[in-house]
Formats: sequence, structure tokens, C-alpha cells
Amino acid sequence: MKKENIYILGIESSCDDTSAAVLCNDTILSNVVADQKIHTEYGGVVPELASRAHQQNIVPVVNQAIERADISKDQLSAIAFTRGPGLMGSLLVGTSFAKSLAFGLDIPLIDVNHMQAHILAHFIEEEDHQKPPFPFLAMTISGGHTQIVQVNSHFEMEVLGETIDDAVGEAYDKSGKILGLGYPAGPEIDKRAQLGNPKAYKFTKPKVDGLNFSFSGLKTAILYFVQRETKANPNFVEEHLNDICASIQYTIIGILMDKLKLAVKQTGIKHIAIGGGVSANSGIRKALKDAEKKHDWTTYIPKFEYTTDNAAMIAIVGYLKYLEKDFSDFDVMATARLKI
Ligand code: KG4
Ligand code: ZN
Repeated sequence: MKKENIYILGIESSCDDTSAAVLCNDTILSNVVADQKIHTEYGGVVPELASRAHQQNIVPVVNQAIERADISKDQLSAIAFTRGPGLMGSLLVGTSFAKSLAFGLDIPLIDVNHMQAHILAHFIEEEDHQKPPFPFLAMTISGGHTQIVQVNSHFEMEVLGETIDDAVGEAYDKSGKILGLGYPAGPEIDKRAQLGNPKAYKFTKPKVDGLNFSFSGLKTAILYFVQRETKANPNFVEEHLNDICASIQYTIIGILMDKLKLAVKQTGIKHIAIGGGVSANSGIRKALKDAEKKHDWTTYIPKFEYTTDNAAMIAIVGYLKYLEKDFSDFDVMATARLKI
């Protein structure tokens, strides 16, 4: 007998992207993302403006996702939404919307942990993407998080190390702010880094025990460096921007790769996946590809559209939980802090 198709609507609203996606089993039918340009002029996400923009975006974004999937909402099997971690006001918009729609359609509601979703995005069926075998190591690198996680099964994950201060995406964004770049600065630093000399300037790597990370010292080092150099030459940043970006990127990738190597040494696991906004970075992608040859690792790099926040990754977790009949009560609450 042919198995019935399962259609999951995923909704993501944890930070500054409103996104909805529809999945048929583990295949994406649509993935709509509305980012919020409004934050650029403030140099960071303004929580109150983010929740207001989510309220404006959520209905058209969900509508578009269903339309592009070419299904009717009555075909949906369940609705998955981001419960946390994230900005409370932003999470509330997606949570309330998901609850009302699931209630109206009389279908199950499934809550999803955003950080698990960044990892489980690797289980979306894609022609040229291999799914990692268990156990594997996942490094989640985003604007809010930096973690190394041992993934034993879809829902059995153990955090081996994490940042004790700033996330790696914040290190990019805060360094960019010092250099006068717009928000988020990660993509621009990455672009410029590819045109500059990575060894032009040296920034010391932080000394943090075990598999934990620290990025706040790097930001301060960059600030003092820029202040010192601009005193001698007011046009220093303009004249050397690509080299500065390349040197920052070289330092950050070095920090990430050192910890990954240590994690592989400690666990013996050589299957490495990355996820989160910073996994779009060309430097980390290249470093991982090089490590395949050099250290005999197998690496799993997400398709570009599943790196930054998106609802496809929420929908795939919804699908995996649907198979386990792991549904949520309708009184489930959004949570700003939620552990893996
Ligand atoms: O996962 P994400 O969309 O949102 C959070 O959950 O935080 O990640 C956003 C972060 C931002 O800090 C942004 O600067 C960074 O990802 N980012 C990058 C690149 N693309 C996005 N950082 C470095 N290189 C990139 N190419
Ligand atoms: Zn994220």
C-alpha cells in the first residue's frame, strides 16, 4: 500500500526573519523568507520593531508559502513553529499564529527548538546533499549561538562546548560596526576577506579551556587596533578594509577550526556538519573542505538557503516529530531561552 504523504507547514519568527515553508515528507515544496531591512539603520536588531514587522509579514508569508507549494491549507497534516530560543516578542507572533491556525484546521501543533532545527536542516532531502550518519558533530554558528554538539540521533543531542560570551556572528557584526559597515556585517566582511591578505594583521586568539569559545576579546582587540591605526592615519580603515576583513576572518576561522579539531580528537567522530547563519561563510566552507583531505573528515555543509534563519529547517523538525507523534499541547509557551 502506498504511504500517505505528510504535509507540514513550518513557521519561523525567532529573530528578524519572518519565514514559512511547506514540506511534503522530507522534501521542500516552498520556503519563503521576508527579512527586515528596518534594522540596518540601527546597526542591530531592535526587538520592538522586529515583532511589529513579524505581525505585518506573517499572513502574507504563510499565504505565499502555501500558494507556492501548490496545495490547499486543508491538506496540511500539522503545523510546526519555533518555540525558542529567540526574542520573546518575535517568538510570540509565530507561536500565536501557529496555534490559531492549527486550532482552526484541527490538526496537530508541533513546537521546535531553533538550534536543533539549524542542525536537523541537514535531513531535508536534496539531490546533491548527503544526510550525516549518527553520531556526528554539529557546529552551530549564528548571530545568537556558537556551539559544538554531539548528535547521537535526531533528538538526542549533547552540547560539548559553547561560547561563554559573544556568538561568532556577533563577532562579525560588532567588528563590522567598528569598521563602519552595515548590519549584518558578516556577509560583507566575508566578501571583502576574499579580496584581502589574511595575514596582513595579527589578532591573538583567545585562550579558553576545552570546547568552549570566547569572542568578546577579539572585538575589543579590533577596536583598539582601529583606534591606534586611525590616530596615525585617519584613512587607515578605508585604505586597508579588505586586508582588515581578511585578517579578522582568518582569526575567526582559526578559532572555530581549532575547537573542531579538538572535538574530533576527544570524541573520535569524523563526520562534521555545520549550521546557522555563519555557515554561509566562504572561509569556514573552504576550511572544512580542506580538512576532508587533510584530516580524513567527512563534512556536511547546508545549502545556502538553509544557513540563515528559515522555516524549511523548522518544517523538517516538524516532519521528524510528526513521525514520532511528538505533538504539543495548545498551552505550549514561547521561551526566549531554550536549551538543545
Ligand atoms: O542564523 P542566523 O540567520 O540568525 C541567528 O539565529 O542568529 O545568523 C545570522 C548571523 C549574522 O550575525 C550574520 O552576520 C552572520 O550570520 N552571517 C555571516 C555570513 N552570512 C551571515 N557571517 C559570516 N559570513 C557570512 N557569509
Ligand atoms: Zn538561527
